[in-house]
Amino acid sequence: MKWYKVLNTSDLKYPFITKVKAGSKNICLVGVDGETHALATKCPHAGADISQGWCKDGKLICPFHRYSYDIKTGRGSPGQGDYIQTYPVEIRGDGVYVGLKSWWDWS
Ligand code: FES
Repeated sequence: MKWYKVLNTSDLKYPFITKVKAGSKNICLVGVDGETHALATKCPHAGADISQGWCKDGKLICPFHRYSYDIKTGRGSPGQGDYIQTYPVEIRGDGVYVGLKSWWDWS
């Protein structure tokens, strides 16, 4: 697992949804109820940028066709049969970090 600093701790102002970079990867960072979650930016339905969406009842809503995904697990709402990738987040003294598996972690 490789950790990337994506935001300064001083920039955490809840609630928020923003797109950040972890290395070369786009990440949708969601801050709600004092917790921060990291998800993929590409909606699995038809590829919209889900970081342009909004949160409601613990779900991230895609702005294109309003599919919704649990912000903690990435699981799609009943009937969708899909999910969005989630990533671990750590709030450290100097910033918000997102962990990405490196290709050598897969073996
Ligand atoms: S592209 Fe996200 S719901 Fe269709």
